[in-house]
Amino acid sequence: MEIQSLGTVVTTVAFLALCGLASAGNQLDGHIVRALSESECGAQLRRLQGNEGVSAVVPPRLKGEWVSMRCEVRPGPEFILRRYKFHSDSSFSLHQFFYADNQCRQPAYSLKIRGTIALGQQALLLSGATEAEYLVSKVTMVVYDESFGRTLRTQVNRTCPGFFRSTNHLLELYQRYVVVDYEQESSLTECTEAMSFAMHELQMVRHEFHSEFNTRIAKFVSWEELFLGDIHPVRSERILYRPKVYQSPLRKYQANCSFCQLIHNTEEFNPPLLPARAEYQVTLRSEWVSTRCEVRKVHFVIRHLVFHNNYTWEGYFFYFRDPLCHHPVYSLYVKGTHSDGMLSQAVPGGTEFEFLTSRMWITPQSSEQVARMNKNDGDCGARGSWRLNQPQEVTGTGGCTVIGVTLPYAEKELLRMEQGRDGRALLFSGERYPDQSSLQEQPTSYQSPVRHCAGVNPLMDITVTSENDDNSSTRIRTSYTLQTLVLCVWFLIHSVTH
Ligand SMILES: *[C@@H]1O[C@H](CO)[C@@H](O)[C@H](O)[C@H]1NC(C)=O
Ligand SMILES: *[C@@H]1O[C@H](CO)[C@@H](O)[C@H](O)[C@H]1NC(C)=O
Ligand SMILES: *[C@@H]1O[C@H](CO)[C@@H](O)[C@H](O)[C@H]1NC(C)=O
Ligand SMILES: *[C@@H]1O[C@H](CO)[C@@H](O)[C@H](O)[C@H]1NC(C)=O
Repeated sequence: MEIQSLGTVVTTVAFLALCGLASAGNQLDGHIVRALSESECGAQLRRLQGNEGVSAVVPPRLKGEWVSMRCEVRPGPEFILRRYKFHSDSSFSLHQFFYADNQCRQPAYSLKIRGTIALGQQALLLSGATEAEYLVSKVTMVVYDESFGRTLRTQVNRTCPGFFRSTNHLLELYQRYVVVDYEQESSLTECTEAMSFAMHELQMVRHEFHSEFNTRIAKFVSWEELFLGDIHPVRSERILYRPKVYQSPLRKYQANCSFCQLIHNTEEFNPPLLPARAEYQVTLRSEWVSTRCEVRKVHFVIRHLVFHNNYTWEGYFFYFRDPLCHHPVYSLYVKGTHSDGMLSQAVPGGTEFEFLTSRMWITPQSSEQVARMNKNDGDCGARGSWRLNQPQEVTGTGGCTVIGVTLPYAEKELLRMEQGRDGRALLFSGERYPDQSSLQEQPTSYQSPVRHCAGVNPLMDITVTSENDDNSSTRIRTSYTLQTLVLCVWFLIHSVTH
């Protein structure tokens, strides 16, 4: 067991490559120079490329209590807080609290999942991840929301009439219901016998150690993050889906972490309730930069986005082949337009936009990438014309099939803004799933945010919604979640009967 202090290896290769590119003297240069200038945005980009203060703990050390860092939005959408505890004997006890609202203030139900986990090898498909196998031994459920409980009972009785009779249970609030129990076979009902309950997020694990100099208190502060695998947006697929990327990380409980305190020691009869938060209207303006080296389907990426407040935008995407963003593969510079935002009906708290990417430049940054791009058939710039660190526009060839982008490129986006813990605005954009091919499909959950780094502070355009939503919208949200849960339980129970 060791901590790979990769974070101290400050790699400036990517940065130097970009500076070299900047001296080549074409239209792109000005932008890149600006992106990497001594602005806050440039400083953050350099920090991410050097990955200062981040190291991977290999193999992961799971022991301890890990909690959500915010009210998480899962595909569906589902609003969830997680409190996961791993013990030294490789057993775990995981709490998942589901909410009817996007601020995690109205608990709907929770699941408590017990079992064991065994770490395996480094994952082949996702660099930096460790594979794991798990066994679930018991799952219990507690329902907090009355109307939800009613709907659930009717549904369950319809699809699996024996369930309530044999356990002699009526669905009551704040009652523990056994959904799966492999610990005591005698207590199995016919509905849970063959149930294959999926917690496949445990199949992929990454543990990171972070440290940062906090100028306010003039001290180094440190924390640990645990990444688990993503879950499939379609519930019926979750049993078969093996994670390909991560969902948002959990943070290891620390006594001095005030957000952690809200979730620490909560349990099924005492679900965590988050304080009300201001909701911000998403206005696309100013500059934004990644908060971490972000994982993608194949590569890892650092993003810098610029919105001009006139329906045009620019984006710089720096792709790397390693999870600490040390080894560049290529970078993209794109320009495009976007629509006005519309509040999402499907995802409370989200705003929907249409983005159009119309122009694109690519800079190959590794010799392998240069070779790959030079083999193209005239569908990625001119054949044989690619040189290391030399940008080329690919708008004329309708994008670049080598990297799988066709232009123009229209995309439905889901965005959300919040105030980060350091007071800066965070912008979340929709998460797309590896096998969710259609860009016209609206995402229903979010990926890692970008942070405001230059330009007008967008939090000035505040729309504070009062703590109590008006009745109608609350109803919509609740019924949506109810529907989700009913589907969930229906599916679980249904799968048993086959
Ligand atoms: C389930 O359905 C049966 C028949 O439709 C009914 O008699 C019974 O009361 C129902 N049980 C519950 C718990 O709703
Ligand atoms: C919290 O405490 C831990 C250890 O006690 C320390 O390492 C960490 O830097 C502290 N974090 C903050 C934000 O003060
Ligand atoms: C939008 O604003 C940017 C920056 O101010 C400017 O360069 C661009 O020409 C503007 N585009 C349009 C269509 O007005
Ligand atoms: C919701 O509706 C009820 C009854 O119609 C009313 O008494 C209550 O004040 C409403 N609450 C809000 C937050 O509007």
